[in-house]
Amino acid sequence: MSVEPIRWRGDALELLNQLRLPREVVYVRCNTAHEVAEAIKSMVVRGAPAIGVAAAFGMALAKMRGDDLQFAAIELKQARPTAVNLAWAVDRMLRVQGAKAEAEAILREDVEANRRIGRFGAELLGAQATVLTHCNAGALATAGYGTALGVIRSAVEQGKRIAVFADETRPYLQGARLTAWELQQDGIDVTLITDNMAGHFFQQRKFDAVIVGADRIAANGDTANKIGTYTLAVLANVHGVPFYIAAPFSTIDVATKNGAAIPIEERSATEVTEIGGTRIAPDGVAVRHPAFDVTPAKLITAIITDRGVLRPPFEESIARCYRSRP
Ligand code: MRU
Repeated sequence: MSVEPIRWRGDALELLNQLRLPREVVYVRCNTAHEVAEAIKSMVVRGAPAIGVAAAFGMALAKMRGDDLQFAAIELKQARPTAVNLAWAVDRMLRVQGAKAEAEAILREDVEANRRIGRFGAELLGAQATVLTHCNAGALATAGYGTALGVIRSAVEQGKRIAVFADETRPYLQGARLTAWELQQDGIDVTLITDNMAGHFFQQRKFDAVIVGADRIAANGDTANKIGTYTLAVLANVHGVPFYIAAPFSTIDVATKNGAAIPIEERSATEVTEIGGTRIAPDGVAVRHPAFDVTPAKLITAIITDRGVLRPPFEESIARCYRSRP
């Protein structure tokens, strides 16, 4: 894909402003770790791997400016709590000397990991398949190529005929605004549906597979991803459709025992009561807005990582893969 979600300019970080897509392709320039943390919080940049890469450059900026690194690390880590890639990237940056080079390596490695995820995942799809995805786990959510959408890109590159159904993904509409746009840019067949249409299309046997990303995968395979993912996993299981998670190995947090221990970010009520800045709900109504939910490992067919496809029991396959890491 031609659009770069994250651009390093040598002295500043430029982030494609995902709040303005698909209507405008504009970048936000960040000169400090604080500005990067604000961009992550406000979702100028979003998606677990992408916020990890952005945070790495935030740490590089702090180092270049001689700012307090511990302070920058805390501010960046607190920007969003669920995606483990954020803390992973910040901790990696704290361990090295050459900050710019390390951040550039994290960016490069993410794209390479996504290409490997793509190749492993494409094997799981037939010559012709319709795939349901949720949120945006594409190039925009990573340093490039994408995880769930990387699998789709790779299958399409191999000549497979893949059609994608994208859930709009209320309340932030990552599916409608980002996935639909990103796939259109690459000429990949995409159909947009609202979240509540998914069950209907499962009944119609429309889907051959569900592929989504992840914000954090616990040691037992329980997976936190965009709110609404769990609903799709239940539907997929009821209808006998394989349910795949696609994520780099850095999204697996072996220090988190199971899904119950994953912190779930609660975002503002206005993201639920408003659409595109227009209020749709009555004033004063009580609102809940968990941004993620947890899909239990037992509903997951396989986890597609950059080190291969992990199968249940995940406790064992994850531990095996973790032990054999380079
Ligand atoms: O709130 P978001 O848009 O950051 O949520 C993103 C997701 O849930 C993605 O599926 C996940 O981060 C994986 S992105 C490759």
